[in-house]
Amino acid sequence: MDSVFVRVNEKQYGPFSPRELRAMIDKGKFSKDDLIWSEDQDQWVTATDFNALRYILPTGEAAEQRPKRVIAVGGGKGGVGKTVFTSSLGVGLASLGKDVVMVDADLGGANLHTVMGILEPKYTFFDFYTMAVEDIKDIVLPTPVDGLKLISGACGTLGLANPKYQQKLKFIRQLRTIDADFILLDLGAGSSFNVIDFFLAADDGIVVTNPEPMAIQECFNFIKICLLRRLQLAFRSNERVMEILESDELNRPGRIHIPMVEVVKKVREIDASAAGMMEEVLAAHRPKLVLNMVMQKDDIKEGIAIQAAAAELLSIDIEYLGFITYDQNVRNAVRELKPFLLQNPQSTASQDLAKLISVKILGQSTINSFFEKRKLRKQLMEQRAEYPELNLHQQAPICSIKCFYWGDCDYQNGGHPCSVRHLEPIFKQ
Ligand SMILES: Nc1ncnc2c1ncn2[C@@H]1O[C@H](COP(=O)(O)OP(=O)(O)OP(=O)(O)O)[C@@H](O)[C@H]1O
Ligand SMILES: [Mg+2]
Repeated sequence: MDSVFVRVNEKQYGPFSPRELRAMIDKGKFSKDDLIWSEDQDQWVTATDFNALRYILPTGEAAEQRPKRVIAVGGGKGGVGKTVFTSSLGVGLASLGKDVVMVDADLGGANLHTVMGILEPKYTFFDFYTMAVEDIKDIVLPTPVDGLKLISGACGTLGLANPKYQQKLKFIRQLRTIDADFILLDLGAGSSFNVIDFFLAADDGIVVTNPEPMAIQECFNFIKICLLRRLQLAFRSNERVMEILESDELNRPGRIHIPMVEVVKKVREIDASAAGMMEEVLAAHRPKLVLNMVMQKDDIKEGIAIQAAAAELLSIDIEYLGFITYDQNVRNAVRELKPFLLQNPQSTASQDLAKLISVKILGQSTINSFFEKRKLRKQLMEQRAEYPELNLHQQAPICSIKCFYWGDCDYQNGGHPCSVRHLEPIFKQ
């Protein structure tokens, strides 16, 4: 949305950006009954009738408290695009006027900051974990994109990869105290409890996979383990139900057929109210799915196949959000250390994501989503023009004999900018 002029108590102010307008709404200085100048209609209209304000104006319950959605992005296989998806999702939502905080919750291989062009984050999750910083809000870093912030992961820190369940819950609780519309968690690969617990603690969990058989297999396994863990966490104080949930029969690695109807039936035989509760938990458990790196039309069907398999084999509903095409622009963006949505807002992958954001994440109707996508593209073009170009060489640390790698380094050109370490983020891709 462009900046707008407003009229409050017969006086005109502005122009205000969406963010400034929202701050005014939060402080009670602007309400839905005040007026906004509509260029399209060439007249003042009330804020409620101003379409582009829909996301900003609070409605109903939200008037008291800004709604906040914690969205976790996970999936079994490494390298399927979770991090590039999260960063561009953050850029897209922020460009539509949302306040977004992205959190790198990949405890083993944090790299979300690199995708955002931040090579040496001032604070990381490690500072919070070791209690060097007490309030989580103090480790939230700005990014070059308006409205988009980042909590960087603790890159390369041994011993962080295994926080206890309570620590994870505390982390999520603290995250919810941050003032934002969306909090996006970028999770690591695999199906360890560290990943799964974060995935389950979020309001929405998005599973990213690509259409290759190995990735699909790991994605399905991830969905299955999530389901079992969800139930185990919900019923951990009920010993008899836990016996069923922890049985070897259900947890056998490689087992893919776990019809929940039968599990519920078994539980009903020993505890009818627990069975009722289990049905509720199952109905509420609805992971979302994004198929990334789609190369041909037929690939798209894989998403529907995963959905059907989850319904048939696990008795759960998965929401297929859509797909993102395999696009060389995404690779180029990663090399330039930029989110792909900004590097080329017109690219096929960017357009796929724009559709997914407006229709599935923000729930727009098809016609509104058309205008929203146009607006998003315009905003992205503006952001793109302002996005700083990284001069990696200039940012490189000065090479020194004190460097940890000095003994193993083939270059040892002390006094010059380091020819190796500043390229690490690129070598890792
Ligand atoms: N739609 C796409 N088209 C082309 N390349 C893509 C696409 N999505 C991702 N990639 C490429 O895949 C690489 C891996 O992506 P990314 O780091 O986001 O994966 P990840 O799932 O987060 O991996 P990890 O599990 O290791 O954290 C990126 O460097 C990018 O070049
Ligand atoms: Mg990643």
